[in-house]
Amino acid sequence: MTPAGRPAITLALSKGRIFDETLPLLKAAGVEVLEDPEKSRKLILATSHPDVRVVLVRASDVPTYVQYGGADMGVTGKDTLIEHGSQGLYQPLDLQIAKCRISVAVRSDFDYATAVRQGSRLKVATKYVNIAREFFATKGVHVDLIKLYGSMELAPLTGLADAIVDLVSTGNTLKANNLVEVERIMDISSRLVVNQAALKLKQEPIRRLIDVFERTVCAAST
Ligand code: PRP
Repeated sequence: MTPAGRPAITLALSKGRIFDETLPLLKAAGVEVLEDPEKSRKLILATSHPDVRVVLVRASDVPTYVQYGGADMGVTGKDTLIEHGSQGLYQPLDLQIAKCRISVAVRSDFDYATAVRQGSRLKVATKYVNIAREFFATKGVHVDLIKLYGSMELAPLTGLADAIVDLVSTGNTLKANNLVEVERIMDISSRLVVNQAALKLKQEPIRRLIDVFERTVCAAST
């Protein structure tokens, strides 16, 4: 509770695009984050609104924080929700931010089409093992999955893997590493997720934020 007796709202965000692209939505709700996470080491950021604070967590931890009540709400990519599960989370809104895609990429000199046609067993490096497993199983392609936690682009360049499954936004990282996108698995954007208990206990302020976000997202898409 805040000193005024109102329930405080904790919003979990991850640094980078999700944080940056959530700011205008918060601003539309009259909430400004008072510190720049790129300049401060703080993990709890105050806002201009006494009842709202932001916590910074790893992108893949946002659903966990919200599910177990470490945060009342969060913003997280569809990729994270699919890969890590979305159990117990209320997902009222696709915020249409941090848009990108999950794709398969290979070295530009690797003949992916032939390898797939010939039924070769592909070595695929990714942090999205569930998404990759499901995608290649549906295609009937045999794969050995290698779990990585970052810098996926390095895997085909060093011979660790034939292909990667990773997020592509501008395509600049692939290009800079002489990789090409050969399949688009799914489009990704970020969602608002809400803790189910918080939705009941803090209904009024949470509903208000959802409504403002929804109106802002609609206005941006027309
Ligand atoms: C993501 C992804 C790519 C890059 C793609 O990495 O893993 O490396 O962005 O963006 P681009 O197409 O605009 O070049 P991110 O910076 O999110 O860090 P990560 O390695 O921790 O996933």
